[in-house]
Amino acid sequence: MERIVVVGAGHMGSVVVRGLVDGTPRAEVVVVDPSAERRASLDGRAEVTATYEPRPDDLLVLAIPPRAFDSFADGLPHGACARATVVSIMAGVRLAALSSALGTETVLRAMPNLASRVGQSMTVLCPGDQVPADGVDGARNALSVIGKVLVVQDESLLDAATALTGSGPALVAHLAQSFTDFARAAGFDADDALLLTSQVLRGTADLLSEPGVTPESLYRQASTLYGTITQGIATLREHRVGESVRTALEATTERARELAG
Ligand SMILES: NC(=O)c1ccc[n+]([C@@H]2O[C@H](COP(=O)([O-])OP(=O)(O)OC[C@H]3O[C@@H](n4cnc5c(N)ncnc54)[C@H](OP(=O)(O)O)[C@@H]3O)[C@@H](O)[C@H]2O)c1
Repeated sequence: MERIVVVGAGHMGSVVVRGLVDGTPRAEVVVVDPSAERRASLDGRAEVTATYEPRPDDLLVLAIPPRAFDSFADGLPHGACARATVVSIMAGVRLAALSSALGTETVLRAMPNLASRVGQSMTVLCPGDQVPADGVDGARNALSVIGKVLVVQDESLLDAATALTGSGPALVAHLAQSFTDFARAAGFDADDALLLTSQVLRGTADLLSEPGVTPESLYRQASTLYGTITQGIATLREHRVGESVRTALEATTERARELAG
């Protein structure tokens, strides 16, 4: 039976574990976390332990903070990961750093996001050059329990993915705040303001998932139907909202690059 070990049972790790337990019943799922409280919250769903006891063919998912990585790697017995497949979701730890610290070429980096909690992550996965096809498939399958997975071969795309998909839910939530503020000011109560906003976001996302629909085709089509939308889009253009959003994504990407060194 395949063994999947999730190291770090915080916000992301615990969601991955819950998804794995529900979504991959044939895998043995082990959770490693120093916190007794976090282990207790997952006990009964997965095997829990305070320290990682390596087995040669583990699929290891690293969901620890980047600052904890060096001491985790230093604490492993020599050669412990030589045959393991290692998937890191740590922001800003490059494939070369993973490979050299863990002593294996079978390393992959993944950038999931907060929507993992509702099974709607957009995870971007980048395998190292030496990862065999079945290693990529195993990682993709493991991460698909938290949402959609896109595999890319160019590691530099992960910096942009950290901005667009990793930080995306928070950036979109910031924009959504303007919608709820507007609804409140118009007279809707807080619950209704949130309902209106979240349903608009959900509906728009679903429309954008239809074949042949793009953001531009959607707003152009809507604009011809209602004069009101033309007015709204013109105001967004006048205030350079699109440009501001692109600048924010570029700044977030640059920060991701800095973090990765
Ligand atoms: N949250 C996001 O939206 C998001 C998105 C994309 C990627 N990520 C990445 O995902 C990783 C985890 O993020 P998070 O938000 O889940 O962080 P978190 O809530 O702080 O969880 C990290 C967990 O790892 C544990 N840990 C630390 N050192 C460990 C070790 N040596 N062995 C086992 N467990 C250890 C921590 O325990 P203690 O608290 O006791 O130290 C904590 O329970 C980070 O690297 C982050 O960059 C997060």
